[in-house]
Amino acid sequence: MELQPSPLCILIVTLSTAAVFLLLCHLTASCRRRNPWCSCEVCETYLTVGWSKHHANLCDWYSDLLRRSPTKTVHIHILGNTITANPVNVEYMLKTRFENFPKGKPFSTILGDFLGHGIFNVDGDLWRFQRKMASLEFDGFSIRSFAFDTVRFEIEDRLIPLLLSVSETETRILDLQDVFKRFSFDCICKFSFGLDPMCLQLSLPLSEFALSFDLASNISAERAMKASPSVWKIKRLLNLGSEKKLREAIAMIDVLAQEVIDQKRRIGYSSIHKDLLSRFMRTVNDDKFLRDIIVSFLLAGRDTVASALSSFFWLVAKHPQVASEICEEVSRVIGNQQVTSFEQLRELHYLNAAVYETMRLYPPIQFDSKFCQKDDILPDGTFVKSGTRVTYHPYAMGRMEELWGPDCLEFRPGRWLEEGKFRPENPFKYPIFQAGLRVCLGKEMALMEVKTVALSLLRRFRVELATPAAEKPTGLRFSPGLTATISGGLPVKIRDISTGARASHK
Ligand code: HEM
Repeated sequence: MELQPSPLCILIVTLSTAAVFLLLCHLTASCRRRNPWCSCEVCETYLTVGWSKHHANLCDWYSDLLRRSPTKTVHIHILGNTITANPVNVEYMLKTRFENFPKGKPFSTILGDFLGHGIFNVDGDLWRFQRKMASLEFDGFSIRSFAFDTVRFEIEDRLIPLLLSVSETETRILDLQDVFKRFSFDCICKFSFGLDPMCLQLSLPLSEFALSFDLASNISAERAMKASPSVWKIKRLLNLGSEKKLREAIAMIDVLAQEVIDQKRRIGYSSIHKDLLSRFMRTVNDDKFLRDIIVSFLLAGRDTVASALSSFFWLVAKHPQVASEICEEVSRVIGNQQVTSFEQLRELHYLNAAVYETMRLYPPIQFDSKFCQKDDILPDGTFVKSGTRVTYHPYAMGRMEELWGPDCLEFRPGRWLEEGKFRPENPFKYPIFQAGLRVCLGKEMALMEVKTVALSLLRRFRVELATPAAEKPTGLRFSPGLTATISGGLPVKIRDISTGARASHK
């Protein structure tokens, strides 16, 4: 009797052959750009995770390497990644030679399943089109007041009542980072899509959309950290492990994004609708592209703001005099009134300084990479071969004595003030919002959101870290992800100080 191979056998053999073939192709391609077998001390430390003996985060190790480099630029051979903390190089790649340092194909492949052709993941005409459309949305007085009203509503009607209910129980511990993620998710959905997901109710589990979003963002970021892309590509081909989870998370995101689009079609998206999605829907009717736009704007506006707020409250809890100075300034400038506009916030120089200082030490986007198109030489003399990944590193830049002085590791908002007035820095020395041609479009909105929340909560509550004093870390530890997320969250106790005790920060 002749044995016939079963269809399953044929499938397995075909997939395995394809996997091996792909592996070989990728190894050959990556060898041309990088050195995957480098055994220098730095590469070995990366591969064996030896850095974790002395550093809480990979970013801290990179900061250390960059601090010790005379040019403030290093090259990690096995990753084929040139990393810089030198502002002159940053200006060169983000502005002077912008066209030679696009996001590039390798990144759009890594993030492609999750972000598709959304603004974060494209170059050229696709980027220019989205940038132009979105710029129209972000400019202008009426949109600023729409954003301000959205944030105020979310604070007054949801955030403060929630924190008040928690403050009633002496012992109740709250994960403030989770609260800020819910808060910023609601705000960005209302602002970008004109829809309210009502996440800021702790009684409700975080929506499946938000959870799938976190998962997809984390797994996509992990792809970028692999020494060879072949590993995740083969796992994706065979639908295994983290790649299987990513596929499921993306399927959920697709369903929900489609719901957002359908709901918008029902509600309408004519010019009376001020949200960003309505503006795009008046021009685009490809649902897949609209889905990509939705995902990119969620990513832009949600985790970044939650990250800035979480670091801010962690730092302020450790520096209560900063909270006192913020409250003192607001009483002096606007008295006991509420802040009523975007413009009024600009008069609060110390508050602005405290927010900038927070993001100097803890940037929500800790590093950002581009890919060099044609061989180039950075202004510090570093040669960059075509196809090399080039990363500027705001987290390390905030820790450079040469840039911020010998007290660079201290949280000192005063460094941003000159005669009591906020003095902005060169954006290439402080590229927290990126800089140059692709500077963050939501910068003003994000600053307004962070400052309004900071102010509203500091005037009303005292936020205490719940970690016992002996275990309090000196710096924050982050989970892998596209934006900085504190590992383990931000457990705090909340005390209501509104009843006649506003000065009790001392
Ligand atoms: C503290 C909060 C924020 C920080 C630190 C921040 C930072 C950044 C950074 C570093 C980039 C460049 C990313 C890259 O090219 O890979 C960026 C781009 C962008 N951001 Fe923000 N962002 C924040 C909040 C927001 C908000 C609230 C929105 C929208 C409402 C927004 C919208 C955008 C958009 C649309 C881009 C893409 C710009 C382009 O590629 O032309 N951001 N942001």
